[in-house]
Amino acid sequence: MPAAILDGKALAANMRADIAAQVAELKGAHAITPGLGVLLVGADPASLSYVTAKEKACGEAGIFSRTLRLPAEAAQDEVLARVREMNADPLIHGILVQLPLPKHIDEGAVINAIDPAKDVDGFTPVNVGRMMIGQSCFLPCTPHGIIQMLISAGVETSGKHAVVVGRSNIVGKPVAHLLMRKAKGGNATVTVCHTGTRDLAAFTRQADILIAAAGRPCTVTGEMLKPGAVVIDVGVNRVPDAAKASGFRLVGDVDFDSAAQVASLITPVPGGVGPMTITMLLHNTLLAARRQGACCAGNIQ
Ligand code: GUN
Repeated sequence: MPAAILDGKALAANMRADIAAQVAELKGAHAITPGLGVLLVGADPASLSYVTAKEKACGEAGIFSRTLRLPAEAAQDEVLARVREMNADPLIHGILVQLPLPKHIDEGAVINAIDPAKDVDGFTPVNVGRMMIGQSCFLPCTPHGIIQMLISAGVETSGKHAVVVGRSNIVGKPVAHLLMRKAKGGNATVTVCHTGTRDLAAFTRQADILIAAAGRPCTVTGEMLKPGAVVIDVGVNRVPDAAKASGFRLVGDVDFDSAAQVASLITPVPGGVGPMTITMLLHNTLLAARRQGACCAGNIQ
């Protein structure tokens, strides 16, 4: 029997309605409008499209957003200066520097410049470190969104074998950590595979839960899965498609058609993890506004 679809779009819509209600409450009761500052350097089409989607989602949730666009040739000092301006801006509670940055810019230096209290991506060393030792922090959006999807679909993670394919700072490493945490949506036994892994299929076939975050189409196919596995596809790859007005279509890292014949539950691309990433960004921005406004605890942790 083909797999059921794990619909990230529907969960995201429910969570966003809840966030919007909480934003309205924060505005009404405390006159605080959560604000997100986005910095986009260059004109990478995928980054432009992500940033546009984030701006739209903020607007729909009642969150103020301001995007600073810098040319691809912008100097590192200019980028750092803009981050520091957002650190000091009381209307901006959360800061997002869209990655990747152009090659000549030291990404680490830019991330280090973000005030950890405004780091709604959860990328700064302070937030990563706090996450690793179980302290209060901003969880990175894609990994947190994946855990929320598993919980909402009733997928048992405790005692299960989760295999993560990919070791990026944005997804692979943090999702492996969240899956192994002693917490809801965690307590799994986790294996991390990457480009240096020999015989990838030998590992993926052991996965009760497979997280594909390799950034390459068709990294995982149906024959690489254990029957009944839960498959989370984080990939967003543009492949040429003359039949589309845009000239491309989006595919994940998993070969959906073959995987859906073997898995029990699978996320589609688009409409799976992507909408949840943005939802958790809204969640973190609301949390940042609450923390900076030092008022009322949230109920969407
Ligand atoms: N590029 C791809 N994913 C992300 C993300 O979650 N945050 C940022 N800032 N850049 C990204």
